[in-house]
Amino acid sequence: MTEPVRVVIAGYGRLGAELARGFAASPEVEVAGIARRTVLSGTVSLGGHDVPVRADLPALLDQVRPRVLVDASLPEGALPNARAALERGISPVIATSGLSDAAVQEIAAACRARGIGGVLAPNLSLGAVVLMHLATIAGRFFDHVEIIEMHRDRKADAPSGTALHTARLLAQTRGRDFERPETSKFNLPGVRGGNVNGVTIHSVRLPGLVAHQEVIFGGLGQTLTLRHDATSNESYVPGALLAIKHAVHSKGLTVGLAPLLGLG
Ligand SMILES: NC(=O)c1ccc[n+]([C@@H]2O[C@H](COP(=O)([O-])OP(=O)(O)OC[C@H]3O[C@@H](n4cnc5c(N)ncnc54)[C@H](OP(=O)(O)O)[C@@H]3O)[C@@H](O)[C@H]2O)c1
Repeated sequence: MTEPVRVVIAGYGRLGAELARGFAASPEVEVAGIARRTVLSGTVSLGGHDVPVRADLPALLDQVRPRVLVDASLPEGALPNARAALERGISPVIATSGLSDAAVQEIAAACRARGIGGVLAPNLSLGAVVLMHLATIAGRFFDHVEIIEMHRDRKADAPSGTALHTARLLAQTRGRDFERPETSKFNLPGVRGGNVNGVTIHSVRLPGLVAHQEVIFGGLGQTLTLRHDATSNESYVPGALLAIKHAVHSKGLTVGLAPLLGLG
């Protein structure tokens, strides 16, 4: 039997805590430590073990020497956290979304220079990754498409990064913008949603929702609807485990989970 991969998780909010619970239930990964901003030191009980928690990520990495750093912090923390990992030869798996292009390029260059693997996975939900791939296939056969993304009421930003990425990917794959009929009279401002490359995006925010996306294609006398529903944050765990395994066995930074699923 192979040894579990030792990981440190940076960020113990909604995503980090869910991943920690999921990893604790997996024989493939061992959570060796947790970094969070506001807790100076302490422990968290995971799977019957006391796991150290520290605010000082570099010191935690030196203390527990993990093979992988899983970042589930915030965009401003992800780059310094990745630097701290890469300086120590630790593979970064970055689940945090919203990193700048410059940050991604720096992390990719550092992975290459050090000959170690890393994964940037702004969407860990395997179903959402498959949906995006299916949408790029459908997008070749339709000129009109709209996206409805639905999330919990307290989500800070809109539209979701996944909806934006889906819209850009659809236009990029077919090599031109989609057709978007002009509305000549608005009875309510904003009612037609946002426009990215001719793809209309609507954002729904309601209590009771988790993360849902519909991509609706329209053509002559027909529509085609693709839909993904994440019904709990557990949906992030299988993608994170896949990313960890890939980071350990690869070289360079892999962006997105699609290549890991043989989809891109
Ligand atoms: N890839 C995916 O599928 C996916 C899914 C969901 C969310 N996300 C992204 O993941 C990130 C976290 O989301 P969330 O909902 O878990 O946010 P959250 O609940 O606000 O949690 C953020 C956590 O990061 C910690 N933190 C902030 N800066 C840090 C730093 N420099 N070093 C270490 N820890 C730091 C915070 O610590 P304190 O609690 O001590 O302040 C908190 O525990 C966001 O970027 C979100 O968009 C990605």
